[in-house]
Amino acid sequence: MPGACPLSISITMNLSRFDMITLQADFTLTIRPMALEDLPAVQEIDRLSFTLPWPASSFRYELLENEHSQLYVAEAQHPNGQKTIVGAIVVWLVVDEAHIATLAVHPEYRQMGIGMRLLISALRAAQQAGMQIATLEVRAGNWAAQALYHQFGFQVVGKRSAYYQDNHEDALIMTLPKIDEKILAQVEQELQKKINRR
Ligand SMILES: CC(C)(COP(=O)(O)OP(=O)(O)OC[C@H]1O[C@@H](n2cnc3c(N)ncnc32)[C@H](O)[C@@H]1OP(=O)(O)O)[C@@H](O)C(=O)NCCC(=O)NCCS
Repeated sequence: MPGACPLSISITMNLSRFDMITLQADFTLTIRPMALEDLPAVQEIDRLSFTLPWPASSFRYELLENEHSQLYVAEAQHPNGQKTIVGAIVVWLVVDEAHIATLAVHPEYRQMGIGMRLLISALRAAQQAGMQIATLEVRAGNWAAQALYHQFGFQVVGKRSAYYQDNHEDALIMTLPKIDEKILAQVEQELQKKINRR
C-alpha cells in the first residue's frame, strides 16, 4: 500500500534536468521532465486533485507547443521495478517570472514531501533559466497548498474575487519575491531532516 510507505531519503542529487532521490525504504523518487507517455497518468492525478481539472488538450499544448512552459513529473520506482507517476508540476517562464500553473500529487502519495520536491526542482530550474520571481494563484480555502508555498517564502500579495467557476471561491495571488538557491537548499535540508526523523 504505497500511501503507508515510511520514506527515508538517503541521497539527493541536484541535476539540471533530473533530480534523483533514493529512498531507503519503498521507492526511489525521480523528478524529471514530463514526456508524452506520462500524459494519461498526469491527467488522472489532475482529475483526482482538482474540481476543475485541465482538459487533456491543455497538457498536450503545454508539453508540445508552449515554449514558455516547463513540465516535470515525480516518478516513483518500486523495488520490483515498477514505475508510477505520482505528481506533476507545470511552470510558465515569462520574462523574469516563473508562474506555477499547476502542481498536484497523487492522493495516495501525499504528505511524503513529493510536492515540495517538485516545487524545489521546478524553482531551481526556473532560476537557472533566469527567472527572478515566482507567482501563483491558489484557492483561498486550500490551506495545505498555502502552507507548502509559505515554506518557500511565498507571500499573499492580492486576491482575485470569485475566481473559480465551480464555487466562486476567491483566488489568492502568492508571490516569491526572489527565487534564491540558498532558500531552496534550506527548504530541501529541512525536508531531509524531517524525513530522517520519521
Ligand atoms: C498541495 C499538494 C501538491 C501538496 O503535496 P504533498 O506532496 O502532499 O506535500 P508535501 O508532503 O511536500 O508537504 C509539504 C508541506 O505542504 C503542507 N501540507 C501538505 N499537505 C498538507 C495538509 N494535508 N494539511 C496541512 N498542510 C499540508 C505542509 O506545510 C507540508 O509541510 P510539513 O510536512 O512540514 O507540514 C497536494 O496536497 C495536492 O496535490 N493537493 C491537490 C492539488 C492542489 O491543491 N494543488 C495546489 C494548487 S495551487
